[in-house]
Amino acid sequence: MDFKRNIIITGGAGFIGSHVVRLFVNKYQDYHIINVDKLTYAGNLANLKDIEQQPNYTFVKADICDFDKMQQLMQEHHVDGIIHLAAESHVDRSIKDPFTFAHTNVIGTLTLLQAAKNYWESLPEGYKGKLFYHISTDEVYGALELTHPEGLESPFTTKASSEHHHAYGTTFFTEETKYNPHSPYSASKASSDHFVRAFHDTYGMPTIVTNCSNNYGPYQFPEKLIPLFINNIRHRKPLPVYGKGENVRDWLFVEDHARAIDLIFHKGKIAETYNIGGFNEWKNIDIIKVVIRTVDRLLGRKEGEDMQLITYVTDRKGHDMRYAIDSRKLQRELGWEPSLQFEEGIEKTVRWYLDNQEWMDNVTSGDYQKYYDSMYKNR
Ligand code: NAD
Ligand code: DAU
Repeated sequence: MDFKRNIIITGGAGFIGSHVVRLFVNKYQDYHIINVDKLTYAGNLANLKDIEQQPNYTFVKADICDFDKMQQLMQEHHVDGIIHLAAESHVDRSIKDPFTFAHTNVIGTLTLLQAAKNYWESLPEGYKGKLFYHISTDEVYGALELTHPEGLESPFTTKASSEHHHAYGTTFFTEETKYNPHSPYSASKASSDHFVRAFHDTYGMPTIVTNCSNNYGPYQFPEKLIPLFINNIRHRKPLPVYGKGENVRDWLFVEDHARAIDLIFHKGKIAETYNIGGFNEWKNIDIIKVVIRTVDRLLGRKEGEDMQLITYVTDRKGHDMRYAIDSRKLQRELGWEPSLQFEEGIEKTVRWYLDNQEWMDNVTSGDYQKYYDSMYKNR
């Protein structure tokens, strides 16, 4: 079948990637979506069970650092778009093992860029109609100061903002903020962002970079704060709060990030950077309390009874104090607006994890890694 577009999405078996793959496969049935994922510990094909039989979807188990394979896939599928999400993504792991982060995030991105360059430059039309879209993080900008620990009324809001509209400082990350990464994870993402821009500036490759704030929602690996804590509360295990729990993160529902990626892929301006976030800042300890109350209520426990599970532990090394994204450019230029208010999003998220205990049990037991063998290996 001839497709209108052939798009590689890397890291599509991960948390955000699976939402992007699902959105594109369902919404654009005239596009061929090729999900390229190595299936590291973070990749889980069960995240895509509902779309895996669709005729416009192909899964390829491959490493983005494998240059020949990336080149071959681009040629074989006449790829004209790449949405690049594959990465090592957990800050705590990067502190223990920075080399894996440099390898996947820097060399992997460079490998994809060079493979795309060779393929696209070999075509008669060259870069016309092509796009390399790189998904990055707000962590590349470093940390903002927490000048107002009690919170100010936020000067900006979106539909994603919580009812409490708090900002914990007066500065925000804009697209002009200087890069100042602190963790090995954010240093590797910053480096990959620079390579993407260098391929535009040097070779004229059409590229876009977006930097998003913390995502939450279904299918997130339970090493990250929200799914880890939901599962621990359910099993009445301690909740390890780093430091004093005063660090601030800016939370966006994952499907709203996926919708932003769709919009930017189709309408974004080449060589631009867009920040993505919903003006929804939370101190860790406050969001943890919301999660505890929600889990307790949905499990029919006395609301708040699991507060006693909060356990303050040694802080993360180099723990960034505050992230807060200014996403007004994306709203102004492309009309992006999140669809869900935080209160709805967190309720939906907690409910999803509680309703999908089998998914969680498969991930925590390691059984999810057998899914590829049963579904794909002998095809
Ligand atoms: P994740 O860890 O859940 O998923 C990463 C995926 O990449 C996994 O499926 C994994 O198997 C795959 N992968 C890893 N190494 C690979 C390799 N060498 N070759 C092919 N595939 C490989 O990550 P996530 O949270 O979904 O993040 C996706 C992207 O979005 C990352 O680039 C991350 O930096 C960025 N990001 C994440 C957040 C967030 O809050 N999670 C926010 C902003 C940006
Ligand atoms: O800002 C975007 C980034 O958000 C993404 O680029 C990363 O890929 C993603 O992992 C996320 O990074 P964080 O480090 O902010 O997310 P994490 O869920 O690991 O932690 C959120 C906050 O909660 C952070 O301040 C550390 C704290 N924390 C985390 C864990 C796992 C705890 O206090 N206890 C914990 O057990």
